[in-house]
Amino acid sequence: MTAGLRTRVLSGIQPSGAQVHIGNYLGAMKRFVELAKAGETIFCIVDLHALTSVFEGGKLREYTRSLAAAYLAIGLDPERVTLFRQSDVPEVCELSWYLSCQFPLGLLERAHSFKDAKAKGLQISAGRMYYPILMAADILLYKATHVPVGADQKQHLEMAREIAEKFNRAYGEIFPVPEPLIAEESGVIPGLDGRKMSKSYDNYIGLFEPAKAMRKKVMKIVTDSKELEDVKDPETCNIFALYKHFATLEEQQTLAERYRAGGMGYGHAKQELYEAIEREIAPLRERYESWMTKGEELEGILASGASKARSIAAQTMGEVRSVLGLGAGK
Ligand code: TYM
Repeated sequence: MTAGLRTRVLSGIQPSGAQVHIGNYLGAMKRFVELAKAGETIFCIVDLHALTSVFEGGKLREYTRSLAAAYLAIGLDPERVTLFRQSDVPEVCELSWYLSCQFPLGLLERAHSFKDAKAKGLQISAGRMYYPILMAADILLYKATHVPVGADQKQHLEMAREIAEKFNRAYGEIFPVPEPLIAEESGVIPGLDGRKMSKSYDNYIGLFEPAKAMRKKVMKIVTDSKELEDVKDPETCNIFALYKHFATLEEQQTLAERYRAGGMGYGHAKQELYEAIEREIAPLRERYESWMTKGEELEGILASGASKARSIAAQTMGEVRSVLGLGAGK
């Protein structure tokens, strides 16, 4: 980030499952904690986005609570960060309408998320197609300058940048053009089958799964069929791909050498991976479980976050409505 300029970091996660997974954690959340130490940060629970895939109110509320607990469990301090639920600031829907009037439909049809859903033969709701505009509205409403995300969100970020530039050209400099913050080494975290870890592929390890369940998942990681004594390649191994995010440099080197020397079985490597994950996650899991018992406190934190977010939103919307020619004007 450029030193000296005002920066505002914003990111969001969908409450679209019972809990976040290791891909969310390594690709995005882990960096949130570092960024929060350095400056102004806003993190949201994007429940309006989750409406494209969660169709039970009770479930959405449960997932939202789990995500709030997860944000706190990883170490975000609610006194320092703005943590809120997207739907508590409904101006985001208003802004997304204004942005949609600028946004070429063809761009939405080229979005990977849309094309993937189409390729899978899924029924595509208008909401799913509109999704990148709502995401752009999230970022622009709060005038975010930097957006930390995993590599799968890169195209959405490019769309948000494009729309900010287009709006600014038409109406004057209202929005900062947001910079993506994508960490090269954790851009795409693979799942158990080597594809991107994702709830929709059901190949994920939940971040706070009980230790036993987590170990069971690790044991399911797909490998090639090399025998115990065979020489193995750490660069193409799904176990190693996760191990390098949890192990120290020295541990990584040791495992890589044992792979290359032969005589190191995948079962052993999985056990080492499990132990490395557990070492890092166990204290987080404990905090998560504790936050999950404090429903009222969580709601209090989200309410205070929403009130901070609302005041930024109100200011932006005042400017936006005015330049668009809505209302009586001054
Ligand atoms: P979502 O909820 O799918 O994912 C949340 C964050 O986790 C990252 N991520 C991954 N990173 C690396 N490897 C993986 N396998 C992996 N899976 C997920 C995502 O890149 C993301 O950073 N559209 C967004 C949510 C959103 C948003 C926003 C993000 C809505 N508004 C505004 C930033 C700013 C999404 O669906 O993320």
